[in-house]
Amino acid sequence: MAESADPKPEVKYYTPDPSYRQNSWMGDYTWAYNEFLKDPEAFWAKIASKLYWYAPWEKVREWNYPYAKWFVGGKTNITYNCLDRHVLGKNRNKVALIWKGETDEEERVFTYRQLLREVNRFANGLRELGVGKGDRVCIYMPMIPEQVIAMLACARIGAVHSVVFGGYGAAALNQRIVGAGAKVVITADMAVRRGKSIPLKHVIEEAIINAPTVERLIVLRRETGRPVEIHSEMEMDFYEVTKDMSPECHPEVMDSEDPMFILYTSGTTGAPKGIVHTCGGYMVGVYYTTKYIFDLKESDVYWCTADPGWITGHSYVVYGPLAVGGTILISENTPDYPDPGIWWKMVEEYGVSILYTAPTAIRMFMKLGEEWPDKYNLNSLRILGSVGEPLNPEAFEWFYHVIGKDRCPIVDTWWQTETGMHMITTVLGEPMRPGYAGKSIPGVVVDVVDKDGKPVKPGESGLLVIKEPWPAMMRTVYNNDERYRKYWEAVPGCYLVGDLAIKGTDGNIMVIGRSDDLIVVAGHNIGTAEVESALVSHKAVAEAAVIGKPDPLKGNTIKAFVTLRVGHTPSDKLKNELIYHVRITLGPIAMPSEIEFMDSLPKTRSGKIVRRVLKAKEMGADPGDVSTLEE
Ligand code: WT7
Repeated sequence: MAESADPKPEVKYYTPDPSYRQNSWMGDYTWAYNEFLKDPEAFWAKIASKLYWYAPWEKVREWNYPYAKWFVGGKTNITYNCLDRHVLGKNRNKVALIWKGETDEEERVFTYRQLLREVNRFANGLRELGVGKGDRVCIYMPMIPEQVIAMLACARIGAVHSVVFGGYGAAALNQRIVGAGAKVVITADMAVRRGKSIPLKHVIEEAIINAPTVERLIVLRRETGRPVEIHSEMEMDFYEVTKDMSPECHPEVMDSEDPMFILYTSGTTGAPKGIVHTCGGYMVGVYYTTKYIFDLKESDVYWCTADPGWITGHSYVVYGPLAVGGTILISENTPDYPDPGIWWKMVEEYGVSILYTAPTAIRMFMKLGEEWPDKYNLNSLRILGSVGEPLNPEAFEWFYHVIGKDRCPIVDTWWQTETGMHMITTVLGEPMRPGYAGKSIPGVVVDVVDKDGKPVKPGESGLLVIKEPWPAMMRTVYNNDERYRKYWEAVPGCYLVGDLAIKGTDGNIMVIGRSDDLIVVAGHNIGTAEVESALVSHKAVAEAAVIGKPDPLKGNTIKAFVTLRVGHTPSDKLKNELIYHVRITLGPIAMPSEIEFMDSLPKTRSGKIVRRVLKAKEMGADPGDVSTLEE
């Protein structure tokens, strides 16, 4: 909506204690950003030179619109930087990975040395099976250490992994296996969720029926007492693969621009795209952002709650934190099982200092009340992170006060599968403005523009774009380069993100939501996300989803689906109050004409609300493929 002003007239900031800036890797944001602007190539070269390269690059960047190459001619292997570097240095016996299962007894701990040995043995096993550089390997596993080991083992030998989230069904999995032309699929017999085992192997069996490239299925059989059967013509036990393998494995020497992995992103609309990331630039991008945005230090205990099946897990569970040499916590648990205190119990028990999660989880905890986090000592927390959706002001406040105890800065990191790394956030030490993600990080140039690429006025909404190439950017869409070029063709000279945003007069950027979710009401473009964030700013609302309903007069009218926070009950009075609230916040044009109260909203497994399902239901149509949704 071009006419919308900053949604809240009063500007409110939270300023972190100055020690955060003084002690941070980044130091002063403005200074760092200017260093970048003075000489972008020197800026990135300085960061890349902190990592190990078998051969140095000849050129930092080659920009041939819309194709970029980074660290051209450089040779490296990301696993050398994630593992060997620390083992050869002083961190051999430092804890790299802690895995926590659902029950108190289930815990597995790997030092850097142990993790390297496990990765090497599995990498050798894969090589033995004929897997090598450039071969595609699909990883379909629950959140267990072997999932991380499998990813690293692929990267070790230059195989291109395509991780598929373990909650996906056979159709989605088949599409991704076929799309990538995977030679090997790595899976487990089961996942664990809320105390129950969820069988996985039959899903894979169904998914590979029409997948002719698959030569082998590697199955991790978890200790359940009732191991699934292995059909030896095609299948192999995970430990059979590593048996008798040496714990030493020479890393494949990778060219900086060799593909490293493919990750399918479905988003909320359209067919999934296989986003391709390469070895050198991706490594530098995730190393830099993990170190400087999360300020990851030697003594931190770092917990990113994402599954490695998403880009967040790739960049900020596995590759970034390991490249920096951090101690990483992962867990197969569900946030409300056995009770909604489990996360906070884990924070206390492991002394988590950096917690990175998603607004959907924060809003769920908000709904459940403060008594759960209040049972535990959260003093170890130092930095909080958010990703995946706009962190609306109410969720920001709750996270800041109830979890961070008014002490921990929040980094609301905006980025995408396509960007590979953080792009916009409030750098530690800078004043934080709830509702606003922040500014471009040093190394990145973003702006909010109209369709011709002209910057819009402060306070007006426009298209979020990226104006310069960055090291961790996707290089192409697998087998569909045309789709890649589209990102760079829509707005002259820019990478079009696909989100709507507002730039405040202070330069901070509020990301509103996907621009493909627009409703045209009486000729005005209204972002579903704008109406949703207005609804969520009401004290009774936990979550909201908005759709357009065809209307003979207005083109469309707005219908909102709303879930309520604990202590609030549906009523006609509340409906009117909410409609009035949107009127005051956004104006009469954005007012919903209908509100329906729901117990829950349909979501993707990564927590994004899927409006098309609500719309189909509303129109009495078939909702289409719902197999990739949260149950
Ligand atoms: C889309 C990318 C990047 C990891 C998770 C999702 C939305 C992401 C934020 C944020 C507002 C955000 C955008 C973006 N998004 N982070 N901090 N504030 N919106 O990856 O599935 O590729 O989705 O998620 O709409 O374009 P993804």
